[in-house]
Amino acid sequence: MDPLMDLTRYPLDAIARQVGTPFFLYDAQILRARMAEVARTAEGDRLHARFAMKANSARFVLDAAREAGLWIDAVSGNEVDRALRAGFAAGHEPPVIMYTADVFRDNALQTVVEHGILPNVGSPGMIRELHDAGYAGPIAMRVNPGFGHGHVQACDTGGPSSKHGIWIDDVDEVHEAARQAGYPVVALHAHVGTGPQIAEFDQNMRRLVDVFDALLQRFPDATSVNLGGGIPHAYRLDAQRYDLAGFRTLMLEASSTLSESAGRPISLEIEPGRYPVAGMAILVSRVTDVKETRSNEKGPGQRFAMVDAGFNDLIRPAMYGSYHHISVVADSGNSPLDARATERVNIAGPLCESGDVFTRDEDELLLPRDLPAPQPGDLVVLHDAGAYGYAMASNYVSMGRAPQVAFDDGAVTLISRRETLDDVLRLETSEALAV
Ligand SMILES: Cc1ncc(COP(=O)(O)O)c(C=O)c1O
Repeated sequence: MDPLMDLTRYPLDAIARQVGTPFFLYDAQILRARMAEVARTAEGDRLHARFAMKANSARFVLDAAREAGLWIDAVSGNEVDRALRAGFAAGHEPPVIMYTADVFRDNALQTVVEHGILPNVGSPGMIRELHDAGYAGPIAMRVNPGFGHGHVQACDTGGPSSKHGIWIDDVDEVHEAARQAGYPVVALHAHVGTGPQIAEFDQNMRRLVDVFDALLQRFPDATSVNLGGGIPHAYRLDAQRYDLAGFRTLMLEASSTLSESAGRPISLEIEPGRYPVAGMAILVSRVTDVKETRSNEKGPGQRFAMVDAGFNDLIRPAMYGSYHHISVVADSGNSPLDARATERVNIAGPLCESGDVFTRDEDELLLPRDLPAPQPGDLVVLHDAGAYGYAMASNYVSMGRAPQVAFDDGAVTLISRRETLDDVLRLETSEALAV
């Protein structure tokens, strides 16, 4: 697997006493190292890496992406605005921020028009919407090539049942609509996801290159091709680490092949989200109780360590049955870990929802872990929580979002405080609508 954060490096207990539990802890050095790795993978004249900021849009993370020289893939108007506020350049020469979506919602269309952001059109009707809003400029086109899926089967990123992109057989029609609206299609894009097996990612990338190779002949204005995100992060101890050097070779070869067959320079983009941020964060929770059920005709008895983090903080296990490695950190008043028996235990959260259990499989069944028997007061740490963790957190049941804390070579900084009830209630109003 990718290396786990070494918990002995961080003053977890002191942070917990100051900001309470649960909290996210981000390691700045790991973040910078991962961003730099992505940047190196795409080093060179005709390669570019964007950070898919949907994975983690904290300013601290965006700063690291910008300092590493990455560009941005944004998927909402507010993400575009956050990227602009974090110092990423507006405009499409070069298109430092690209807006990828199948739907313009809220301020998205206005933001694209106002800041000259390159829109990556994922649905045919978006051409008309851009035209009606007065957009003038180039566009990118997101294609659904007919294959691909995410890190779990439930995550459908390409194929007939995927809602993303323009179906491969319809691209010429949409291209013609773009031509009539005066929009050159300067980039072709697809994001087909990781696939549950590492080998599938490389196969998908090669298949995508072939798809674009065929398409580029019909898109004379296109000067770049984007293979999307999906660089695998190894969440499991026995999972193989993905070889970025091999991916760089694939990208270099693809750029040469595509340029040669198109007869013009074609640059190649990638836009990983998970890879640079997953491994730089942990979600730290406190054990409040340990309890058991007993076997009966419905099934075997289970042991539950109850913790104060739930799917409102980290939704991936509840949404996808995703795996996060779990560690126990003994409270100083409890017995040390090496004096404890290992037991099969579920880690369950505070929400009044049966799905609020972090130890689940892809079929949403309980899958208890072998852990040093947790005791009330211990910390339970969920590893690899930096991607789609805080970014997907909610204030469900009016529990505020957990604070985010950054650790940088010994310096500890609170980068977002715990959401309070006042924060939650701030949006409530009783405005009469003139309808
Ligand atoms: C369009 C697009 N690009 C990039 C990504 C990033 O994918 P990942 O986090 O798997 O790298 C996503 C994620 O869903 C996406 O929808």
